[in-house]
Amino acid sequence: MSTITVEASKKYDIIVEENLLPRAGEEIRARFKKANQIMLVTDDTVDGLYGGIVSESLEKSGFTVHKYVFPHGETSKTFAVMVPLVEKMAELALTRSDLIVALGGGVTGDMAGFAASIYLRGIDFVQIPTTLLAAVDSSVGGKTAVDLAAGKNLAGAFHQPALVLCDYSTLFSLPEEEFSTGMAEVIKHGVLADRELFDFIAENDAKAHLGDIIPTNLVIKRRHVMEDEFDVGLRQLLNLGHTLAHAVEKLSNYEINHGNAVSIGLVAICKAAYAYGLAEEDITDRVVAVLKKYNLMTECPFTAAESVSVLLNDKKRSGQTINLAIPKRIGECYLYKMDVDKLEEFYRLAIG
Ligand SMILES: NC(=O)c1ccc[n+]([C@@H]2O[C@H](COP(=O)([O-])OP(=O)(O)OC[C@H]3O[C@@H](n4cnc5c(N)ncnc54)[C@H](O)[C@@H]3O)[C@@H](O)[C@H]2O)c1
Ligand SMILES: [Zn+2]
Repeated sequence: MSTITVEASKKYDIIVEENLLPRAGEEIRARFKKANQIMLVTDDTVDGLYGGIVSESLEKSGFTVHKYVFPHGETSKTFAVMVPLVEKMAELALTRSDLIVALGGGVTGDMAGFAASIYLRGIDFVQIPTTLLAAVDSSVGGKTAVDLAAGKNLAGAFHQPALVLCDYSTLFSLPEEEFSTGMAEVIKHGVLADRELFDFIAENDAKAHLGDIIPTNLVIKRRHVMEDEFDVGLRQLLNLGHTLAHAVEKLSNYEINHGNAVSIGLVAICKAAYAYGLAEEDITDRVVAVLKKYNLMTECPFTAAESVSVLLNDKKRSGQTINLAIPKRIGECYLYKMDVDKLEEFYRLAIG
């Protein structure tokens, strides 16, 4: 078992442990003595797998559990699905000592977290991630959001969880593709900040070492969140590979999932950074090999011109420059301000 403590605007623990779900109630009760009611938010798939275990554990610890189950998938991450949840909480008269528990992947965590941030101007919520992406990335750091017609994650709030319970035995029921999506973020963390992690997952099967790999990733995420909770500086490094990835997702009409898009983005940034003279080493081949090992796409099906025109409409654009996370070598990255009119030339060095 590992416990990692995050000290941001809120201080909270992340517990990473195999078979933690049956003890979820105990861990929550130990920290929330005054809570009576819990709104357990989960999607239909995760509910079928783990909803029962978690409800039972919460009830055993004396909580009254209400469940809000929504259809799985990104299309549910909307106000249309979130508003009835918030209305339900009001109907049940949840107070500020009560809790929301998000059981599931990033979609569940983002939406339940956003609901927690607005109900009564903010109540506590607990993240119980059940995807690798949520375990190493979205469950920690306090970014919450829903999607709008105009784009992903356009409405949201910073609202840190009050506790994160990561039972990595749940990750063994994930479809391979979802596991790979999470691996894209793990590989990103390796390139970004941890050469040892990168080498380890290159040489070993990540799935057999989740008890070590997840805490290692969370320590990286924690460092960026603690130093820059509101994403105005250092935290932007976590966007490594994501600038192009967002464009690839959009251009493919989301047929290319987030993990594959990040993977394509990572390859492109490594290659372009070296060719543009911003990196010390050409790490592209090593990064491609690890991404392929975890069944991720590495070739960009779109041109630099197509990609850049889409990404310039993205919310991460700030004025006439864009902040790019640039890999100097494996395990070390920095932020580079690039003129937006140089972007196409830059990406052309990698994706033609
Ligand atoms: N808040 C943040 O900091 C942050 C960071 C990265 C991504 N995100 C968001 O996270 C979302 C993606 O998260 P995701 O990839 O976890 O998607 P997700 O929540 O949709 O989960 C993926 C699929 O796996 C299923 N599933 C979940 N756990 C399972 C399990 N243990 N066994 C079997 N099936 C399981 C789900 O039902 C779903 O169909 C996006 O909306 C993205 O914007 C947020
Ligand atoms: Zn990502």
